[in-house]
Amino acid sequence: MPMTKAKSIWMNGELVPWDDAKVHVLTHALHYASSVFEGIRAYQTPKGPAIFRLEEHIDRLMFSARVYRMEQEMSFTRDQIRDACLQMVAVNDLKDCYIRPLVYRSYEHMGVNPFGNPVHVCVAAFVWGQYLGKDALEKGSSVKVGTWHRLAPNTLPVMVKASANYMNSQLLKMEAVVEGYDEAIALDVNGYVSEGSAANVFAVVKGEILTPCLANSVLAGITRDSVITLAREQGYTVREQSLPREMLYLADELFYSGTAVEVTPITSVDKIPVGKGTVGPVTKTLQKAYFSEVRGEVPDRHGWLSLVGQGAAAAR
Ligand SMILES: Cc1ncc(COP(=O)(O)O)c(C=O)c1O
Repeated sequence: MPMTKAKSIWMNGELVPWDDAKVHVLTHALHYASSVFEGIRAYQTPKGPAIFRLEEHIDRLMFSARVYRMEQEMSFTRDQIRDACLQMVAVNDLKDCYIRPLVYRSYEHMGVNPFGNPVHVCVAAFVWGQYLGKDALEKGSSVKVGTWHRLAPNTLPVMVKASANYMNSQLLKMEAVVEGYDEAIALDVNGYVSEGSAANVFAVVKGEILTPCLANSVLAGITRDSVITLAREQGYTVREQSLPREMLYLADELFYSGTAVEVTPITSVDKIPVGKGTVGPVTKTLQKAYFSEVRGEVPDRHGWLSLVGQGAAAAR
């Protein structure tokens, strides 16, 4: 999806014009994938633009940086990065938008050893549309089970949102696209359902909502957590458990959750219709509940919304 340029990008504490936000070609992260990041969305609400679950995203970014031993070398605190996210939405006059903080090893030394390459931080924000195309949210997506498996435990940590993990995601995504599908679902190293290339997966089976557990090599999605919370509030039973592949063909409904995909129905897997092959009632209910939260159409009883006006003013 092409990006729509915004005015400026926060780079190591400076506001840099969009076209000047550049790095050196010998940047360690470009060669050895030494970077971690977040994907966050802001939505227009009746009280102005608000970032959805900003605190949780920043916490996950710091966790990711800690695992790759970058946290201690960062020149910015979690709160400064959080404020930079609010500032980027405000100074770029954005409403519905996507926010991308990135923590990466810059350049000074060549070689795998990352130490000695300064840790830089940037935050960009820009308008971004619907991740799987304009019809996917309403009509659903077609999915294939990928031939590439998700990363096995003890290879790369999947709960960390590291750029390196997305080479695996790219293999899955490319295979799906080349073969005419919208997206992929990956299995884990043991053949259980894991997740999409950039989204968690949910199944509705006999009225219960099931999703792979964290031991199935999934990112602990913040949208996943939101959907679980909202579903339980609506009285659904939600179970986090291993799902054999055939559950994908047995399920009455399937959907993805993620900041980018939001709550996107899956209407076929490997060209087999999911349920009746249309968007099911549970998916519709949860999609509606999710959009009501992010758009501030219901009271923010979980404290999930960070209002940009307030935060950006406080950050000045
Ligand atoms: C691999 C992967 N799984 C799951 C998710 C969903 O996570 P979240 O809901 O926090 O965006 C994402 C998106 O960031 C992802 O890239």
